Amino acid sequence: MIGLFDSGLGGLTVSREVLRQLPGYDTVYFGDTARLPYGSKSPEVIKRFAVQGTDFLLSHGAKAIVIACNTMSALATDEVRARAKGVPVFEVVSPAVQRAAAVTGGRVGVIATRGTINSNVYVEQMAAHAPKVKVHGQACPMFVPLVEEGMARRPEAASIANEYLRPLRLRKIDTLVLGCTHYPMLKSVIAKAAPGVRLVDPAQETVASLKRYLKENPKFAAGLSKTDAHKFFVSDLNPHSQKLASNWLGRDVLLQKASVENARALSR
Ligand code: DGL
Repeated sequence: MIGLFDSGLGGLTVSREVLRQLPGYDTVYFGDTARLPYGSKSPEVIKRFAVQGTDFLLSHGAKAIVIACNTMSALATDEVRARAKGVPVFEVVSPAVQRAAAVTGGRVGVIATRGTINSNVYVEQMAAHAPKVKVHGQACPMFVPLVEEGMARRPEAASIANEYLRPLRLRKIDTLVLGCTHYPMLKSVIAKAAPGVRLVDPAQETVASLKRYLKENPKFAAGLSKTDAHKFFVSDLNPHSQKLASNWLGRDVLLQKASVENARALSR
């Protein structure tokens, strides 16, 4: 079972990639919709939530964990790894940095939550990986609510995107990392606001790295269940999210309500 978790439904962009790139593998998803957004919360709180999400996935039999959230990847990867005790953990930031470094002419923009931008994780990882590449970050706090409210195709989304991307256009970026797992849902709006700029989707890169790992570790891959079963849990549920989730994944999705508070007991 591959476990994925996010603050809300945005991590389903990563689940969608698992379905596409690794068809047949069973998955369990947890979206912490009751406590979304994470992007404006303090690192301490995000770390605590990330540990609870990890316990929840382990208690549901996850044998590999994907942190399907840039904010948690930026701020809590070490905590998730420590908690996962040997279960391999995949995060979304480094695969995106590697891809951006490979395709850019030298000017990369990163759009993300405030938490991710303030963590400086993209600037630091790029400096270590490709020191000549300049990275310009832009927090886009309105994007997550637009996506969670199913407003990605509304004209308001286009004008907000235009506003957020103006500073990056002025910096003449040639590549743009969609540094939040919700943002691929706004891909066409973002592409219009950044004409001629190459978009990097961390969801695609992360699942590609998981796929490589499975290929390089065939014994481990053989131990993962493969019955095309998928479970989706959220910490708060409304009929609206049920519909959105099914639309995004292009299949009927049954979201089930679950609490993460007592997951630790279950995972023991
Ligand atoms: N989807 C999350 C990310 O990738 C953030 C959304 C939120 O602010 O909770 O950063």
